[in-house]
Parts: sequence; structure tokens; C-alpha cells
Amino acid sequence: MDRKKVEFRFLSEPDMIQAGVLDTRRCTEVMDDTFHLLGNGDFVMGGYNQSDHGCMLWYPKESPFPNMPLAGPDRRYMAMPAYVGGRYNCCGVKWYGSNVTNPRERGLPRSILLVCLNDAVTGEPLAIMSANLLSAMRTGCVPGVATKYLARKDAESVGVIGCGVISRACARGILVNMPNVKRMYLNDIVRASAEKFAEELSKEFEVEMIITDSLKDAVVDSDVISVAAAGPVPVVIDRNWLKPGCLFTATGHAELSEECWIENRVVFDYWPMHELWYHEGQMHPDGIESTRTWAPSYQMFRLLEEGKANKDGIVSLSDVVVGKKPARESEGDRIIFISGGLPAEDVTWGYTLYEEAMKQGLGQTLTLWDKAHWL
Ligand SMILES: NC(=O)c1ccc[n+]([C@@H]2O[C@H](COP(=O)([O-])OP(=O)(O)OC[C@H]3O[C@@H](n4cnc5c(N)ncnc54)[C@H](O)[C@@H]3O)[C@@H](O)[C@H]2O)c1
Repeated sequence: MDRKKVEFRFLSEPDMIQAGVLDTRRCTEVMDDTFHLLGNGDFVMGGYNQSDHGCMLWYPKESPFPNMPLAGPDRRYMAMPAYVGGRYNCCGVKWYGSNVTNPRERGLPRSILLVCLNDAVTGEPLAIMSANLLSAMRTGCVPGVATKYLARKDAESVGVIGCGVISRACARGILVNMPNVKRMYLNDIVRASAEKFAEELSKEFEVEMIITDSLKDAVVDSDVISVAAAGPVPVVIDRNWLKPGCLFTATGHAELSEECWIENRVVFDYWPMHELWYHEGQMHPDGIESTRTWAPSYQMFRLLEEGKANKDGIVSLSDVVVGKKPARESEGDRIIFISGGLPAEDVTWGYTLYEEAMKQGLGQTLTLWDKAHWL
């Protein structure tokens, strides 16, 4: 057998933009498709239940080694592999590091991400791509899909908490799925971030932008709420602020009172993935408390641990999109949607952009080898 040359495509951030990574409508369609594949089982992710979010490097709270990074909010390294079937039939992994001090101390985004795609049969690399925009867009279009299936059809107001990178994408994902939207409330502990956000989005959407100094004011009149904040100040939501019929989406950590979780319908993007986090948390030396600062499902873990919630009542968006579970049961339901992010989403959006990049001849072709040195 002749030894085969292996080449792959490198796609920089400008290449990804050219390939359409910022196209919210297209990305929402691909995320909708991804949830159909998840609901029908045409995927494999890591872990014993094939549903793992990924493998995380846990930094210690203290270390005798001066160079070893220490634990902190959103401080992690993560590798997230998945195979996805359907029209994608591809394997891939997202690999990233996150440090909340990057923007203010180093002129870098909070997290820096790459996606590598591989042939599902041979393992040959197809592409290595810049994934900051890919990841932000796939993350933001998930609350968009949740809005499509779970929000009231007459929803007209949105509340956005945290006006950073991920929220920019969440707001776009939600807005394209709210045909009757009229107002958007924006809240950030740094007011300038909310102002910048409002200026940017008002160029794309005809929506009244209202910047609020209090968290409460961004929530009380909102039919859809999106939380994607990062940092040491937790987002604490009072249950009385949630309007009847609203959809509350948490893409980053948000603290809702216990009653909120018990009284309302809670929908996860894909519960088996959160369940693995729960089991990992139980095995961690600090128990499920170790998941408090980063797992958006932490409060459900606590309720399960204390016997105050029951797994049978938990719904996954993937089951809703394929019709296995109903969406909202009444117009007055308040729905809490929790998105943890799935590696399958990175692979489907990454593969879609890779196909487009190949069509347009974008990026650089790199050679792994002309002939493998050892066979
Ligand atoms: N579920 C997923 O798939 C997924 C994927 C990526 C990131 N995330 C999460 O999204 C969150 C946001 O990430 P990002 O990249 O946008 O971070 P970022 O640093 O770009 O932005 C965070 C913003 O939140 C604001 N903020 C912090 N605390 C706040 C508070 N208490 N109230 C209001 N605003 C507050 C900050 O000022 C900042 O503007 C992170 O928690 C991250 O883990 C989730």
C-alpha cells in the first residue's frame, strides 16, 4: 500500500468570518439540527454515558509550585471531543483556556479557543480553526433555539445580563427567534460594556435598547431573559422578578432561589451531560460545591443531593425539539433553561464552516506528512 500524503486546512479568525461564522440565522439552523441529532441519538461524546462535556484541568486553590495557575472563577482548560452523524459524519475537539483577567490585564479575550476536525473513519485531520467566534456563536444560538421552542410566541421584551462576548451572540440568537420583539434591557456591572453592546446591536436590529443600572430592572418586564456573565460578582435573581410566561435562559452561572427551581419547569440543553458533571462533582474532594462557580446546573445538583428535586421531572431541549417531551404546558409557565454547552455543537458548526471555507478556497493548506515516517 502506498503511503498517503495527509494535508489539512488551517482557518484563521478572518477566514472564519469570511466563511460565515457570524451568520446568526445559519448558526441557529445548525444548532436546531444538532438538537435533533442529539434527540435522535446520532452522536457520540466522551464519558461512560457518551454524553460528557469534556475533560477539564482543575487548578488547585494553592500550590507549592510558583508557576502553577490557581483556581478562580472561569479559570480552566478544557478539551471537548465529539462525533456527530447526520450530514456531518465527522469527529472533532474544541480545546481552550479561560482566564477572566485576560481582557483587562493582557488585551486578550477571556477564553482562547481552537477546533480540530477529523475524518470519522481514519482520524486524518481535516481542519484546525480559530474557534473564538465559532464557539461564541454556537453558544449564543442555543438560547436562540430555546427561544424558538420554549418562549411564548407573543414574547416582545428581552433582558440581557452581562454584556460580554457570549451575551453578544446570545442576544442575536434570541432576537432572530423573536418575531414580535420590541424592547431589550441591558445590564452589566460595567456600564460602558452595556453601552457598547447597545450601540453595536442597534445597527442590526430595530429594537429599543434600555440600559439598566439594576439587575431587577433588566428582568421584571422581560419575556425572555439571558444571563451570560463572568466574574467574581454572582448574578442573583429573585423569584418574584420573573414575569409569568417568561423564559429564563442561563448560559453562564446565575443564582436562582430554591423555589424557582422547584416551582418552575426546568429544561436543560442535554441533561445526561449535566448528570456527568454531577457525578464528577460528587467524586471531587470538595463535593458538588466544586461545581458552584462554573456549572450552570449547580443548583439542581444541590437540590438532587438534598432530595428536594427528582430527576424524573428534568427535561432536555433535545427531547423537546424531536417531540419526545412537550415544550411549555401553559402560557403562564415560567421556564428555566440551562445551557452547559456541548462539544457536538462545536463539531456541527465547525464542519459547516469548514465546508464553506473549502468551497470558497479559504485558509492555508498545511502538510502533516508526504508519507508517514512510521506505518
Ligand atoms: N454554556 C455554554 O455553552 C458557554 C460557552 C461559553 C461560555 N459560557 C459562559 O458564558 C459566560 C460569559 O462568558 P464571556 O466570554 O461572555 O465573558 P466576558 O468576560 O466576555 O463577559 C462577561 C461580562 O459579564 C459582566 N458581568 C460580570 N458579572 C456581572 C454581574 N454580576 N452582573 C452583570 N454583569 C456582569 C462583565 O462585566 C462582562 O461584561 C461565562 O460564565 C462562560 O463560562 C458558556
